Amino acid sequence: MKPEDVKKVGVIGCGIMGSGITEVCAKAGVDVTVVGVDEQVLSAGQKAIERSLGKAVERGKLTEAERDEVLGRIKGATDLDSVGDADLVIEAVTESLDEKLAVFSTLDRVTRDDVILATNTSSLPIVRLATATGRPDRVVGMHFFNPPPIMKLIELVRALTTSDETLDFARGFSDRIGKIPVLSKDRAGFIVNMLLIPYLNGAVRMYEEGFASKEDIDTAVQLGLSHPMGPLTLIDFIGLDTAVFVSEVLFEEFRDPDFAPPPLLRRMVQAGYLGRKSGRGFYDYSKER
Ligand code: 3HC
Repeated sequence: MKPEDVKKVGVIGCGIMGSGITEVCAKAGVDVTVVGVDEQVLSAGQKAIERSLGKAVERGKLTEAERDEVLGRIKGATDLDSVGDADLVIEAVTESLDEKLAVFSTLDRVTRDDVILATNTSSLPIVRLATATGRPDRVVGMHFFNPPPIMKLIELVRALTTSDETLDFARGFSDRIGKIPVLSKDRAGFIVNMLLIPYLNGAVRMYEEGFASKEDIDTAVQLGLSHPMGPLTLIDFIGLDTAVFVSEVLFEEFRDPDFAPPPLLRRMVQAGYLGRKSGRGFYDYSKER
């Protein structure tokens, strides 16, 4: 199958990334079936898509008629069988190897043999997911960035088993949905998180040691480096639990202390301070909810 022939995409997972990827694909004119773990998650994800499309209309990026067309292309479901007729599947469930392995083995059973199965994992080995299927040459990493409707990048990750054809397809499909692909080997962190995590953890340690206030750390990076967000605001945006998880995976792979999650970050996760999504992280978001 060629990227331009894809008529229907299955997106597995309807959290921040799954709903964002659904929106991106539907905006590119593709029908999408998005599978949430349950009705509640599905409905929250669908509301997030409506909010984001509403914002796109407000910002003049989309007309109201286009927004309605995009929404008309999206169908929600809670069972993996619903993507049985998809031409491409992109998995974006929670970052648990066991959960992803179970999803890939089911996808292998319910989808056509020629269908490419992509994963949005930010750190897990693509080859582990590939070898859970009978089509290890047709599994590839397509790592989107948060928020998917705005961030242009996709990291394409080639497992040892991924074929040239699969990679070309993933590159072509990235172009079709208006993203810019870069290529990484299948190593924890790929390109971006390998660079980002030591920087974010360094900022947490700086704050934990009392070297500077959180506001000053964030202001320094925003104004001194022209980043859209300072590091502690960015961790709140990514989710502290995700930041800890990705740090642990990188530490496990390389055994480099710069990747190890700082104690404060772990304690905050244990306290339920997960960042923007929980209403509290390094900053308070309770009034935005
Ligand atoms: N749909 C379409 N376009 C939208 C939109 C929407 N819902 N919302 C905003 N936009 C457009 C705006 O119109 C604007 O376009 P323009 O430049 O053409 O005018 C552009 O997007 C930016 O708009 P704003 O600055 O007003 O956007 P917000 O304030 O809403 O959001 C942000 C800001 C884009 C989140 C910015 O703060 C940012 O880039 N932050 C850093 C994000 C980042 O680093 N993400 C990566 C995280 S790491 C990751 O994901 C990897 C994982 O594995 C950990």
